[in-house]
Amino acid sequence: MSKKDWEYGIKKILISEEEIKKRVKELGAQITNDYKDKEEDLIVICLLKGSILFYADLCKEIKLPMKMDFMTVSSYGNGFETSREVKIVKDLDENIMGKNVLVIEDIIDSGLTLKRVLKMLGHREPKSVSLCTLLNKEANREVEVDVQYIGFNIEDEFVLGYGLDFKQEYRNVPYIGVMGEF
Ligand code: IMP
Ligand code: MG
Repeated sequence: MSKKDWEYGIKKILISEEEIKKRVKELGAQITNDYKDKEEDLIVICLLKGSILFYADLCKEIKLPMKMDFMTVSSYGNGFETSREVKIVKDLDENIMGKNVLVIEDIIDSGLTLKRVLKMLGHREPKSVSLCTLLNKEANREVEVDVQYIGFNIEDEFVLGYGLDFKQEYRNVPYIGVMGEF
């Protein structure tokens, strides 16, 4: 395989396109059911960039009125993982006060990013905040995060594709793959 191949460096498919599609439908149905009787507006938030493909597919399966909004955060390490800071690079357009907020993430690893994002959103006094992640890597969890919806629990391996990147590439690969040796 040459470096020009979009699958270069991927050693195996962990979750196929078909499996993703099936699980996204299930999650969408579950979310639809959970929110269908709630009075307040629903705002579904995409954490860019990793969640983009999952978010787009999932939103089509949430068969309720909703607003779509986007946020970019970045983490800065200072050597101590636990004091890692999370900065908002692109904030939401919507005011979430009094609304039901559903945050969509690609993967929860240490949990530090999400913990801080949820705290920041909580200060804006939404009616509720729930979290949906495509992938959950429990093995690396450093802080507890309350996750309401999980696509797949995975082992401690570095994964790529379906939005997830390595040095900003591989996001367009349509399945979840495991990174091999380069
Ligand atoms: P954490 O939960 O704060 O440790 O960080 C989660 C973020 O790390 C995710 O949003 C991803 O951007 C990135 N990340 C963690 N594990 C992986 C992986 O296996 N592949 C690609 N990105 C990952
Ligand atoms: Mg991410």
